[in-house]
Amino acid sequence: MIFDTPAGANPTDRMKVLGKPLDRYEGHLKTTGTATYAYEWQNVAPGVAYGYILGAAIAKGRITSIDTRDAERAPGVVGVVTYLNAGKPGVGKFYVQKMLAAPEVDHYHQPVAVVVAETFEQARAAAALVRVGYQRTAGRFDLAAQNGSAPVPPEGEFGGPNEKQVGDFVKAFAAAPVKVDETYTVPDQAHAMMEPHASIAKWDGDRVTCWTSIQQMNWGTRDLGLILGIPKQNVHLISPYIGGGFGGKGTVQIDLALAAIAARVVKRPMKVALQRPIMFNTTIHRPRTVQRVQLGAGHDGRLTAIGHDSLSGNLVGGRTEPTVTSTRTLYASANRLIRMRLATLDFAEGNAMRAPGEAPGLMALEVAMDELAEKLKMDPIELRVVNDTQVDPENPSKPFSTRAFVRCLREGAERFGWDKRQSKPGAVREGQWLIGIGMAGAIRGGKIAKAGARARLDRQGVVTIETDMTDIGTGSYTVVQQTAAEMMGVTPDRIVVKLGDSTFPETPGSGGQQGAPSVTAGVYAACMKLRETVAQRLGFNTAEVDFADGQVRSGNRSVKLADAAKDGEIVVEDLMEFAKLADQFQQQTFGAHFAEVAVDAYTGEVRVRRMLAVCAAGRILNAKTARSQVIGGMVMGVGAALMEDMAIDKRFGFFVNHDLAGYEVPVHADIPHLDAFFIDEVDPTISPVKAKGVGELGLTGVAPAVANAIYNATGVRVREYPITLEKHL
Ligand code: MOS
Repeated sequence: MIFDTPAGANPTDRMKVLGKPLDRYEGHLKTTGTATYAYEWQNVAPGVAYGYILGAAIAKGRITSIDTRDAERAPGVVGVVTYLNAGKPGVGKFYVQKMLAAPEVDHYHQPVAVVVAETFEQARAAAALVRVGYQRTAGRFDLAAQNGSAPVPPEGEFGGPNEKQVGDFVKAFAAAPVKVDETYTVPDQAHAMMEPHASIAKWDGDRVTCWTSIQQMNWGTRDLGLILGIPKQNVHLISPYIGGGFGGKGTVQIDLALAAIAARVVKRPMKVALQRPIMFNTTIHRPRTVQRVQLGAGHDGRLTAIGHDSLSGNLVGGRTEPTVTSTRTLYASANRLIRMRLATLDFAEGNAMRAPGEAPGLMALEVAMDELAEKLKMDPIELRVVNDTQVDPENPSKPFSTRAFVRCLREGAERFGWDKRQSKPGAVREGQWLIGIGMAGAIRGGKIAKAGARARLDRQGVVTIETDMTDIGTGSYTVVQQTAAEMMGVTPDRIVVKLGDSTFPETPGSGGQQGAPSVTAGVYAACMKLRETVAQRLGFNTAEVDFADGQVRSGNRSVKLADAAKDGEIVVEDLMEFAKLADQFQQQTFGAHFAEVAVDAYTGEVRVRRMLAVCAAGRILNAKTARSQVIGGMVMGVGAALMEDMAIDKRFGFFVNHDLAGYEVPVHADIPHLDAFFIDEVDPTISPVKAKGVGELGLTGVAPAVANAIYNATGVRVREYPITLEKHL
C-alpha cells in the first residue's frame, strides 16, 4: 500500500496548517500551572488517602517478618498493605518485575509495604515505624562477572532476533585488510523525567479509575488488569498531561499498581507518588551494555564484515537491551553477525528508555566507524557514504521506504563547516583548550501502528478529536490539532483535542517514536469519515467536494461547515491499520549529528561548543515541536556522552546515586546553542500523512558524535561512557 494519492485527493498534502511551527496546543496551560498532572487532581476522589511506599533494604533475599503494629497505631494511619494482605498481584506483559516483595525480595527498594494515612506526612512518618526482618542472600550485581549466564528470551516486543548471521562473518573479518575490534561500555542510565511517577486510584465495585502519568494507554489497561486480576475493560486510565516519560512511563509502574492494590485493600481512594530517591532502584532503567564491535574493510573503505556482540543483564524473564538493532540496517556489507547475550542481575528491571538499543548501540558502532576511518586515513563522512545502502542489508529484496542518510551527512557537513576539521587529533589548540570536531550517523526505526480517533462536529463548526494518544511533552496535541484542521479546512482554533483517556479510540500511545505518525493517520481516517458524512448531510456529491476556509464547496455551491451539524452534532469514529507495510519496506528515520568540543588540556573538563542535527523523518508535521524533540534529544545525548551513570554498589546491590543530586544530567550552562535541520521529504509508505517519528531519532547518534569530537580534540579514545575527565587525562 502506497499512500501516493493524485494531487488534491489527500487533504494533508495541502500543508496549509501542517508543517507550520504552531505553538503548543496546551502550552499556555503548562506555563500557567493550570495543566493538571496526575498527583494534582482535586475533587475527583473524595476521601482520598495517601500511600507511602516502603522499599526493601536489601537487594536479594526474603522478608522473614513484618511488624506493622506500631505503624497501624500511628496518627492518621488507615492501614498498612503488604504481601500478607494485598492478595496475589499479577505481573503485566511488558515489564516483568513484581510490584511487591512477596516475600522474596528481587531487587533493592522493591516495595515491601504501602503505608496508607490521611495525609502524606502521616503515611511517611508511620512508614518509619514498620519493622521488617530480612534474610539476605547473595545477589548478582556485576555484569562482567555474570557474562552471558542467562538464556536469551525469545524475540520480544522489540522484534529482533538475538543472533543473526548473513554471509560468513568470521571468514570475512579474518581476511579484511583493515580492521577495528573494540569493546565499548554504556552504563545503566535513568530516565530522570521531570515529573516523578504518581497515581490516584478509585474503585467503584470491580472497576477502577486511575489518574496517572503513563505513555501507552492500551498497555496500561492491559497490564493493570493483569496485575489486579480484572478484565482490562474494568480499568479506566486518565492521563492528559505528562511531565516527560522517555519510555519510563511506558506502562504500569509501582505507583499505579500499588495505588490500585492499596485502594482495594483499605477501601478508600488512594494517591501514591514516588519520591525521587525511590525511583531509580524500583522503576525501569536503561541497562548497562558491554558491546564488542568488529569492522573489517577493504582499503577503499568498503565494509566486508560487520560484527556486533552485546551483553546486557536483567531480572529473570527480562529482555536483552537490543543494541544491535541499528547495526543490522545502517551500513552495507555482505558478511554480518549480530549477537545479544544476557546475564541475570538482581537490579530493578532494565527496559525501554528513549531509542532502546539504538541509542546505546550507536554509541559503540559510530565510534568504531570513527576508529575505522582513522585507520583507513579516510574522512569519516566519506566512509559512511561509501557504505550506504538503499536496501535492507540483511534482506536485499526489501528497499528502504526512504533513506536520506547521505543527504543528512552532506547537508550537515556543509552547514557545520566540516571542512574546517583537522583529521589529525590534538592538532587545534586555543589557549588551554583543545578543540575537536566530530560526527556520527543516526538511525531509528520509523514504524507505525494501528490507531483510531473519534471526530465530532458541533453546530458552531468546532471539531473535537478524541483519541487515547498521550502527550509526554512531545507535541501530540498540536499535531493532532493541525491534522484535523488541515483535513476539515478550518483554522486550528476551530479544533478541540482530547487525549489521554483510555475510553477514547485506541492508539499505540507515545512509544517507539510511533506516536505522531500513528495518531495523525487515525485522525486522517476519522476526518475522512467526517467529510463524507458532512457531504452527505449537505447533499453534496462526496467525490467532488472540497473543504476549505470553513466552507464545504462543490462547483458553485458553498456551505458553512457548521451547517452540517445544524440538526445535531455529527460523531464518527475510524481507524487506520498498517498490517503488511513493514514486510514490504524497511522503514527507518535517519540523521547525522555534529559536535564541536573544547577540552581543558590541564583538567580534562569538556565543554560542548556547537552542535547540529540533520534529520530525515518523512513529512515534518510541526517545524517547532519537531525541532524541540530533536534538540531535547541532543541535550540527552550530551548527558549520555559526558555524565549519566547509575553507580553500582556491588556489595549491597543498588544504584547509589539515586536522585538528581547524584545522577547528573546536563543543565542549561552545559548546553550551547543547538541547531536542527530537517531534510525535505515525505514517506508515502507510512500513512496518508507521510510522516515518521523524530523524538527518538534526535537522541541516537548524539553521544558518539560528542565522543568522536573529544577524540579529535585530545587524541585519547575513551570507550567507556560516560567520558568523564579522569578517563582521558
Ligand atoms: Mo520509547 S523508550 O521506545 O518510548
